[in-house]
Amino acid sequence: MNEENLFQKYKLSDSLELNNRIIMAPLTRCFASEDLVPNKLAIPYYEKRADAGLIISEATLIRKDGQGYPGTPGIYTQSQIDAWSEITKAVHQKGGKIFLQLWHCGRVAHTFYTNQPTLAPSAVKVEGRVPRTKDLQYEMPKELQIAEIKQLVVDYQTSAKNAIQAGFDGVEIHGANGYLIDQFLHYSSNTRADSYGGNPKNMSRFCLEVIDAICSEIGSDKVGIRLSPAAYFNMDTNPLDPDVFKHLLSEIDKRNLAYIHSGIFDDSVEYDYLEGNVTSFLRKNYKGTVIGAGSYTKQSASLAISEHKMDLIAFGRPFIANSDLVEKLKTNQEITPYTDVMLMELV
Ligand SMILES: Cc1cc2nc3c(=O)[nH]c(=O)nc-3n(C[C@H](O)[C@H](O)[C@H](O)COP(=O)(O)O)c2cc1C
Repeated sequence: MNEENLFQKYKLSDSLELNNRIIMAPLTRCFASEDLVPNKLAIPYYEKRADAGLIISEATLIRKDGQGYPGTPGIYTQSQIDAWSEITKAVHQKGGKIFLQLWHCGRVAHTFYTNQPTLAPSAVKVEGRVPRTKDLQYEMPKELQIAEIKQLVVDYQTSAKNAIQAGFDGVEIHGANGYLIDQFLHYSSNTRADSYGGNPKNMSRFCLEVIDAICSEIGSDKVGIRLSPAAYFNMDTNPLDPDVFKHLLSEIDKRNLAYIHSGIFDDSVEYDYLEGNVTSFLRKNYKGTVIGAGSYTKQSASLAISEHKMDLIAFGRPFIANSDLVEKLKTNQEITPYTDVMLMELV
C-alpha cells in the first residue's frame, strides 16, 4: 500500500476544497507578546506548513479571562487581528488554507495570567499545577451566571467575525481537552441544576448556542468543532458522559458544519464507555466529515481513511518537528521525531 489516499483532494464544503487530506493539528506554542499578539516568527512558521490540506491554528483566546498559559494569542483586539492577517496572507500566498481555533480555558484559566475571576460551568476545580509555573495550583472557579453565559456566546460570535476579518478560511471551535466548552459536556465538571446542566440536552446547550451564534455570523460551511468524548485531560470520567455526546452529535449533525475533529493524544486507546476509540465514537454518532487525530503515522492514518474510520488526518507533534512534513510523507523521507526541546523554538 502506498498511502496515496492521503494526497487526494477533499471537498470540505461547498466553499472549500483541500489539496490533500493532511491537516495540521492546532498546536499551542506560547510565543505571543504580552498583549497576546501573535509573534512575527509565526508568519514563516505557518507559511512553511501551508502545503497541509488545512492548517488549524494554535488555540486562540476569545477574551483575556480565558487565558491559562503564557503567551497564547488572542483574537479580540485590532492589533491581534492585524497580526493574524499577516499570517493568513502568507499561508494563502502559498496556496494553503487556514482555520482559527477559538478558545476559552474556563476553569483551566488562572488569575495569575488574567487578573480576573476564573469562570466555569460549576465551582469545581481542576486538580494540579498550572503548566509553565513553578508550583501554582489551579484555583476554585466561580460558577457562571446565566447572563455571563449569554455574554460568552456573544464573545465567541465576535471572535469568529474577527477571524474572518483577519482572513481565516473558517474557525474551529475548541470544544475539547477539558477547556470551557468541554467543561459543560462532562458530569464531573458540570453540576449545574439549571437549563445548562443535569441532562444531555441541557449540558449540550452552551456548545450548541456557541455553534449557532458562530454559524449565523460566518456560515456553517466555515465552522468545525473539536470534541473530547473521552475525559482524558483536565477532566474526570463519568460513565454517563457518552449520552451527552450522543445527543450533542445528533444536534451538530443537523447543522451542516464543515467537520468534527477528535480531541485526543492517542487514538489507539479504547474506552469501555465509548465502546472503542474516540474517532470511532465520533464516526458512529455523526454523519459528516470526521478528522481523526492522536499518535497516527502515515500508515495508520492511510489505513484508517481507507477503512472509512475517518476522512482526514490531523498530525500535531510531527508538524512541530517537520515543517516540510507533507513533502516528507509524499516522498517517503524519514520523519524527524518530536522532542519537548522543540517547543522552545518557533521554526
Ligand atoms: C505542544 C502541543 C500543543 C497543543 N496545543 C493544542 C491546541 O492548542 N489545541 C488543541 O486542540 N490541541 C492541542 N494539542 C493537541 C494536538 O492538536 C494533537 O491532538 C495531539 O498532539 C495528538 O496528535 P499527534 O500525536 O499527531 O501529535 C497540542 C499538542 C501539543 C503536543
